[in-house]
Amino acid sequence: MPNENGVIEVKNLTKAFDGRVVLENISLTAQKGKTTVIIGPSGCGKTVLMKHMIVLERPTSGEIFFRGQRIDELSERQLSPIRAQYGFLFQGGALFDSLTVYENIIYPIKGHQKIKDWKAIDEIVKGKLAMVGMDGFQNHFPASLSGGQKKRVALARAIAMDPRIILYDEPTTGLDPIYSDVINELILKLQRELKVTSVVVTHDMKSAYKIADHIIVLYDGKIIAEGDADHIRNHPHDVVQQFIHGRISEADLGALRLGGTKYETQYGPEDFK
Ligand SMILES: Nc1ncnc2c1ncn2[C@@H]1O[C@H](COP(=O)(O)OP(=O)(O)O)[C@@H](O)[C@H]1O
Ligand SMILES: [Mg+2]
Repeated sequence: MPNENGVIEVKNLTKAFDGRVVLENISLTAQKGKTTVIIGPSGCGKTVLMKHMIVLERPTSGEIFFRGQRIDELSERQLSPIRAQYGFLFQGGALFDSLTVYENIIYPIKGHQKIKDWKAIDEIVKGKLAMVGMDGFQNHFPASLSGGQKKRVALARAIAMDPRIILYDEPTTGLDPIYSDVINELILKLQRELKVTSVVVTHDMKSAYKIADHIIVLYDGKIIAEGDADHIRNHPHDVVQQFIHGRISEADLGALRLGGTKYETQYGPEDFK
């Protein structure tokens, strides 16, 4: 039975690429109105897991549910109205450089409806930008923005369609500590004010502690610990302790992984349709 407070449920998900298993029997629930953080070293499968939550990847075995409905077997056309209920801020920010801030924000709206009332759209864009402290930047191109400003615009785009759920992939990576904290505060603010369900992928323990209601530690494609911040802080598993205290470098962790690879999962414009 689907859990009625579980907005996204992943059940016994296994994913292999060309026979190489990168996620092994993962089950998790993102609870309604809560922030679930998935943390783990690079290459452990965080992005691949997140892509399954919006069916940009399909399971090798296992099931994905959105609000009680199984979605991993739906066609692209059937997925469209479901994806419209998601907002996403993907790794790399991925603003379209050739589009202004305004055009970037209306991009997902245009993908789902023919815009007739442009006055109303102007107001929506203004409101979303105000939410992230970027109203007034409508006519700027991404090239003229700092890294932190780009993230904020990408966040405004993520909420353009009033999503029920927001997926964030490494929202603070590449930002200095002050800007990272601005993004953490925005994630908390959106959860509070828009009552969204959030799933955040990160390898930054500090943001995890700050924003998470529930933390899931992923290592080498498996969940090795989960619980609230206190539970994780005091977790006896060696790898959890090493990871949260940063006692082992990313490179060492990479080398520990079986068949570690340099492949970085990316997103393209088609993922935003
Ligand atoms: N499309 C793909 N084809 C083959 N291997 C992939 C693909 N996408 C991801 N991988 C592999 O899956 C593993 C997990 O990748 P990823 O989810 O991007 O890690 P993380 O986001 O935790 O850094 C990596 O070993 C990566 O090389
Ligand atoms: Mg990743």
